[in-house]
Parts: sequence; structure tokens; C-alpha cells
Amino acid sequence: MKKRDFLSVTDFSIDEIWKLFEFTHKLKKQIRKGIYKKYLKNKIIAMIFSKTSTRTRVSFEVGIRQLGGSAIYLNKNDIQLNKGETIYDTAKVLSRYVNGIVIRTYKHEEVVELANSADVPVINGLTDLLHPCQALADFFTIFENKPQFVNNPSNLKLTFIGDGNNVASSLLLLSSMMGNEIRIATPKGYEIPKQIIEIAEENAKKSGAKIIMGNDHIELAKDADVLYTDVWVSMGQESESEERIKVFKNYRIDRDVIKVAKTDVIVLHCLPANRGMEITDEVMDGPHSRVFDEAENRLHVQKAIMIKLLS
Ligand code: CP
Ligand code: NVA
Repeated sequence: MKKRDFLSVTDFSIDEIWKLFEFTHKLKKQIRKGIYKKYLKNKIIAMIFSKTSTRTRVSFEVGIRQLGGSAIYLNKNDIQLNKGETIYDTAKVLSRYVNGIVIRTYKHEEVVELANSADVPVINGLTDLLHPCQALADFFTIFENKPQFVNNPSNLKLTFIGDGNNVASSLLLLSSMMGNEIRIATPKGYEIPKQIIEIAEENAKKSGAKIIMGNDHIELAKDADVLYTDVWVSMGQESESEERIKVFKNYRIDRDVIKVAKTDVIVLHCLPANRGMEITDEVMDGPHSRVFDEAENRLHVQKAIMIKLLS
């Protein structure tokens, strides 16, 4: 059988994603009961990281250990890739040693090249373009909190407020497969990349998803079931910080945004958060917030992904 990669949520079919969620639920329940099944016994996974990480790194490493495998963390500065060894050669060599590769880097094309060159499955742990593991954990968290939408996602209204970045793009792609209403509120000039919108619009024809994009975050937050935000300055954009902080000033989840959403709205943030910027302390620590459940679910969902691709 041909190996499979997970570089974008669109690498799985919607049926596969529903099955993955069922399995994730099972894994989460097992862990709560102290049951650790060794689905990745004797499997070794290389984790190449060119950017910093708390959740992705730790949840992958912990997940791999819980499943009986082992992880090798490779900071990009420590390997010859940093000295000009090609992605192709790196992929071929690693494929002789390990059973899978998780990578976090800047250019999405590099991850595509790595996956195309490697003989083992490659999982995208975030690129400048996409963050697919995050989107799966996000939707898993949404359905945990709002089970009424499990068989009926078309009534679910999900509003993303902020930058049309990697997290927003993966959320849009997954929404377009699920068939929910997805509203993206960004400042002008910070919209989701055209190539992603095109794929989402194509998916939406099949799923019935409703895609709404605009600049008025209060308008787009009205009656939302889920509010979502992310940092204004992503990793790699540090030189744009000053400009971005000015442009995004109002694109935050605060009490005024909560007020217009449904009374039982839940608030998500992929984290790390810049408290006081894209989200206030009051919201982050308030009754609507599910951000730490969301972070926990990264662990469970990624275990299901690894088992699917590797075992
Ligand atoms: N949400 C997320 O990917 O967090 P890290 O950058 O800490 O991995
Ligand atoms: N958009 C953020 C997400 C971090 C998990 C970034 O790319 O830095």
C-alpha cells in the first residue's frame, strides 16, 4: 500500500475525518482510564522543527510515548538541512532510519517536497500556510462541546476573527469539508490566501458549507456558536509586528464580541495567546473559553492521526 501523508486536512476524506474523531474519542477515554495501547510499538518518529513550539512538540512526543513508540526531536539548526543538504536527500536518509516524520517549518512547499521524497509518512506540524493538526483538534473540541452539531454541522456558525493565517486557512478548509457556516473577519489586506479560498469554495459546493468573509468582526460574530482567534503576528512575521499591531487593534475577542454571539458560545484559540491583544484575560479565563481543552485535544487527535498513518 502507498504511504500516506497528512499535510492538509484535505488529505483525508470527510468520512475518514469522522472515523478519526470516533477513534480519538476512544483514545481519550482510554487514557482517562489509564489504558495505554501500544499502537506504535517499535516505531520511531523524527520531529524536525524550524520554529518554536510548546503544544505541538510536547503533544506529539507525549502521544508517541503513550503509544509505545519513540520520538527524535531535531532542531533544524542541529541537522545538515541547515547547512544546505537537500530536502530530497534528507527525506531519503531519514526514511532509512525512522517510520515517520513530523515537521514544522516556514515554507509549505518544503513540506510537500519532503513528503514527496520520503518513503515514510510525513505529518505537517505547521507551516506558514496551514496547521492541519490544529484544525482537527479544534473541530473535535467543537463537537465535544456542541454534540447537537455532530450530525448536523450545517447549522453550526463558526467565526474566526483576526489574521487570515495558517490556522484560519486550515479552519476554513475543514469547515468547507464539514459543511458548517464559516465566517472569517480580517482587516483588509490580511485575507486568507486565494488558493485556499478556491479549494474551500470547491469543497463547499459538495458539503453545502457557507463561507462568509468580511472586515466587520462584530457583524460576523452575531449569533456565532464558536468564536476563534489567533495571534496577530505569526512566527516569521516579527519584522511586521509594529504595523500589524496597529492594523489588528480591534480584531480581538472581548466582552463586546461575546455579547453579540449566542449565549452559549464557546471561545477557542490555538495558543500561544497574546493576552490583552487578540483576546482579553476576561474572555480567556471566562466561562465561554475552552482553550485548554482544545490544547489537550491536540494530543488525542494527533495520536489518532499517527495510528492511522503508521500502524
Ligand atoms: N497551537 C500550537 O501549535 O502551539 P505551539 O506553537 O506551542 O506548538
Ligand atoms: N499563526 C500562529 C500559530 C501558532 C500555533 C503562527 O504561525 O505563529
